Amino acid sequence: MKVRLKVKRTDPGSNEPRYSSYEFEAEQSVTLLDALIHVREYEDGTLGLRCSCRSAICGSCAMRVDGRARLACRAKVIAITGGDEDHEMVVEPMGNMPVIKDLVTDMESFWSKMRQVDPYLQPAQAPPANEEYRVTNEAMLDLTHTMNCIMCGACVSDCTVLEVDKNFIAPAALAKAYRVAADPRDGKEHDRLVKYSEYSGIWDCTRCNMCVEVCPKGVAPMNRILQLREMAIEQGITNNAGARHTNIFTKSITDGGRLNEVWMVPGSVGLFNIGRITKEMPGAIRLALAGKMPFNQVIPPGMPGSHKMKGMDRVRNIVRKSASLKPKKAEVKSS
Ligand code: SF4
Ligand code: SF4
Ligand code: FES
Repeated sequence: MKVRLKVKRTDPGSNEPRYSSYEFEAEQSVTLLDALIHVREYEDGTLGLRCSCRSAICGSCAMRVDGRARLACRAKVIAITGGDEDHEMVVEPMGNMPVIKDLVTDMESFWSKMRQVDPYLQPAQAPPANEEYRVTNEAMLDLTHTMNCIMCGACVSDCTVLEVDKNFIAPAALAKAYRVAADPRDGKEHDRLVKYSEYSGIWDCTRCNMCVEVCPKGVAPMNRILQLREMAIEQGITNNAGARHTNIFTKSITDGGRLNEVWMVPGSVGLFNIGRITKEMPGAIRLALAGKMPFNQVIPPGMPGSHKMKGMDRVRNIVRKSASLKPKKAEVKSS
């Protein structure tokens, strides 16, 4: 099988990347990492790449292929090209991280964000002497996806919020944050949730789903972020725009069956944020004039006379049902 690669090359300290193309014959079973190692061994010994286990365990070979982050050792060439021998795979280093050389990125920001979430258990009290904590299977099963993380950085590479805000704590660290906050042995859940709810934390994710799509281990970081949001709201940590937005959204749907466009903005940014409310007001007026918004939406959700869609019983049933599906944090059992 013919393999065609176009690899982004960057020399240390240079801001001027270039592309090198390679073409050679290989077995059908070749992985992208095999192909890159072939290049380094037989075509161009200056190619910089990072790898170790070659078995999707160590997390060191993440890179972008055709614009999407993958583990090179897990990506079969034939699966990327679909068997099209003319397909030239464009191989680039991970995004959202500085490049050290070629396909090798500096992961210091990845690790510093991981440290930012205090990624270790902090029990409220030690177990009784000569005893140990025991947790239910149910509690640990809920955490197994998160424990599968191999710290490869693929989710961070393709996170769309990080592209515009380098302070965002980012998917891998927030998935780790869930792993410790939801562990029944941890005693700092509330403090953690307060911290994770601050600027650059759980409410800054736009739910683009990229981290779920690229994670090679099924950690689904976005879903873990959503679980942290639910935990924060349940604990009354709602003094932020994200939580307020969620609450007014839910109240609006539960009360009237649709978004109340008038009250979404003040309900999210706060009633006294006059600047922001004034800025959004013309949009609301245009919606109303265009017939996109019932005029009785000026009445806040939950108040007498507020707008109600037909079939509200069914909407409320759906809301009740989804609320009952939320996983509960399991209890610790000491032996
Ligand atoms: S879902 Fe959130 S955390 Fe995941 S990639 Fe998108 S913005 Fe980033
Ligand atoms: S969450 Fe997935 S993509 Fe992100 S670092 Fe962990 S294993 Fe890699
Ligand atoms: S080389 Fe270890 S995960 Fe790819």
